[in-house]
Amino acid sequence: MTDRTAAERAPDSTINKIEQRKARVGIIGLGYVGLPLALLFTEQKFAVTGFDIDKRKVDTLAQGGSYIYRISSEEIKAANARGFSATSDYAHIEEMDAIIICVPTPLNQYHEPDLSYITDTTHAIAPHLRAGQLVVLESTTYPGTTEEVMVPILEKENKLGLKAARGDSSSQKEFFVAFSPEREDPGNTTVARRDIPKVVGGVNPRASQLAGALYGSIFHRIVPVSSPAAAEMTKLLENIYRCVNIALVNELKLLSLRMGIDIWEVIEAASTKPFGFHPFYPGPGLGGHCIPVDPFYLSWKAKEWDFRTRFIELAGEINVNMPYHVLASIGGALNQHKKSLNGSRVLILGVAYKKDIDDLRESPALTIIELLQHEGALVSYHDPYFPFIGKGRKYDLQMKRSELEKLGEYDCVVIVTDHSDYDYGRIVAEARLVVDTRNATKGLSSPKVVRC
Ligand SMILES: NC(=O)c1ccc[n+]([C@@H]2O[C@H](COP(=O)([O-])OP(=O)(O)OC[C@H]3O[C@@H](n4cnc5c(N)ncnc54)[C@H](O)[C@@H]3O)[C@@H](O)[C@H]2O)c1
Repeated sequence: MTDRTAAERAPDSTINKIEQRKARVGIIGLGYVGLPLALLFTEQKFAVTGFDIDKRKVDTLAQGGSYIYRISSEEIKAANARGFSATSDYAHIEEMDAIIICVPTPLNQYHEPDLSYITDTTHAIAPHLRAGQLVVLESTTYPGTTEEVMVPILEKENKLGLKAARGDSSSQKEFFVAFSPEREDPGNTTVARRDIPKVVGGVNPRASQLAGALYGSIFHRIVPVSSPAAAEMTKLLENIYRCVNIALVNELKLLSLRMGIDIWEVIEAASTKPFGFHPFYPGPGLGGHCIPVDPFYLSWKAKEWDFRTRFIELAGEINVNMPYHVLASIGGALNQHKKSLNGSRVLILGVAYKKDIDDLRESPALTIIELLQHEGALVSYHDPYFPFIGKGRKYDLQMKRSELEKLGEYDCVVIVTDHSDYDYGRIVAEARLVVDTRNATKGLSSPKVVRC
């Protein structure tokens, strides 16, 4: 057996540490992705340190509290008891064996990728980097981010002259880098997080191996791919597939409405085909941090290659138009009651971007509220998850939740998000007019209901 160098042993020693649950895991960005991930590692008896620049989040966690609806404070307290802690101090990076980055990747005002959270985080990590550490990016982004953006910063700004491990070479002065996309489906309780296969692409095979060992301790199946770029592209393919198919059913819904065909009935019937068809459902517009945003990361990058991603652009055009379709439908429904949008009292039911979750990001409900207000409607809302809507990146509504009472006092009740908590029979019985964007009133036959 040949004598192996310290660097060759480095990932092996980390793999041993992982197997013995002695590896220290740092999770950067304790939001919807990072906090549940930190809890998964904690459950598997890893000592986890969470890093976040939001002091309120760090303090809440330190006090055993939670700021994410579906994570209870009991879970945080249990994690704290198992050694989980949160900090804003990047000096602790040095103590970590693996560092997983889960920071936001939004679009800027010109619909271009805003990588500032990734670059800020990378600048903050670099001075504390030490040999043998594994750095994994989980944030959704365009192919090339890990190797073209992150690695150069880490190499240039670390204090020990370390380089990212590449090819088969090994030295004592290297660290390991991989990309592994987050694939969570918020609110989906049918698949446990650990049952979602984890795609991993390392800069070199040893980085892949190390990242695979780390994630293999909390996920049942690891799917290795040949590079970070392939892993980055995998995530984008998944989201673009959703975005394009949702646009397709949205367009077919608009046509079906004109033709007097119920698109929901059609989708249900088509779904009985045992192969070659996967159902997607129309709605009031795209929402969430992923589907409305991620495809444009690829469109932007494609320009570097003189390439136009026409499917993405077309899907974007159709999906962005859906809130305007809802506005027109509300106007049309009120018109049937000899009322105008201007001055009508409208109650929006559900503002989360999809049912049964506490996430408002990019929600079409926000656009619909703004459009209605612009037309002079007097808008109220109800959502079990949001007592107040304040200021976001693109809106500043400052609205307080209305009670789900006296529905008959509104000129129109609009179902934008079909939360399971709502009693749709009661809503239809009490309201004067219901505009349903989600087929939530399926099976309820009433002249008061307008499906759009
Ligand atoms: N939410 C989802 O369902 C989901 C699913 C798949 C992928 N993603 C992707 O995962 C990434 C994270 O998304 P999220 O929903 O968790 O975002 P989030 O906004 O909920 O959380 C991000 C966290 O990062 C923190 N942060 C920002 N800059 C930081 C810095 N420099 N150092 C430390 N912390 C910092 C923020 O304070 C915040 O707590 C995004 O790229 C997103 O596209 C999200």
